[in-house]
Amino acid sequence: MIVVSTSVPGAGGTTVVRQAMDEVGGWKHRNYGDVMVEIAEDRGLVDDRDEMRKLDPSQQKELQKGAAKKLAEEGEESDVVVDTHCTVNTPKGYLPGLPQWVLKELGPDAVLVVEAGADEVSARREKDAEERERDVQSLEEIDEHQMVNRMAAMSYATLTGATVKIVQNPDGGLDEAAGKVVEVLR
Ligand code: AP5
Repeated sequence: MIVVSTSVPGAGGTTVVRQAMDEVGGWKHRNYGDVMVEIAEDRGLVDDRDEMRKLDPSQQKELQKGAAKKLAEEGEESDVVVDTHCTVNTPKGYLPGLPQWVLKELGPDAVLVVEAGADEVSARREKDAEERERDVQSLEEIDEHQMVNRMAAMSYATLTGATVKIVQNPDGGLDEAAGKVVEVLR
């Protein structure tokens, strides 16, 4: 089984899904970005993950394809949570995280969309500003990105038959959010 977990950066998708996986057991966690960054670094395209979304979209798509192939192979061996983004906010516009060729390779059974309030997302991004080079976005831009992600998730579901679960992860709400994800992984 393949479950795709998504969130805008800072909404806490990784944190929520990891807690749920600890509770259920038996799932492998793979970060789509890590796989893309490994391939990009091997090709000398980037030095760190925050440079990824600034690459030309055609280069990002090539890396996307490579990562999809690798993860699909791993998905044949065990249940995998693929941690990624419904859309990536690039300078040229929203890049779909799961275009048709990625969906075809992965064949996800469920798509999780983890969300938080725009003010909370913004505050969490500021917290790790020293280690990460986060994009500075207004609250309206974060709201728009989360709305676009919902639309993208339903399009992915229409193409694959996957279910879509929207999970709220407000400050102090991690246990409840992880509980909603457990319902998908069980
Ligand atoms: P990726 O590795 O996903 O990095 P990212 O985009 O920076 O996302 P984050 O890891 O920051 O997001 P998150 O919300 O999951 O973080 P966390 O749980 O730590 O991707 C790297 C790059 O790869 C992307 O930028 C993109 O370029 C590329 N990429 C990836 N997939 C792609 C695809 N399919 N197609 C094309 N390109 C792709 O949470 C953040 C913070 O919030 C933490 O400090 C945490 O402690 C805090 N937090 C979480 N939950 C709570 C809570 N309930 N209360 C309080 N604080 C909380």
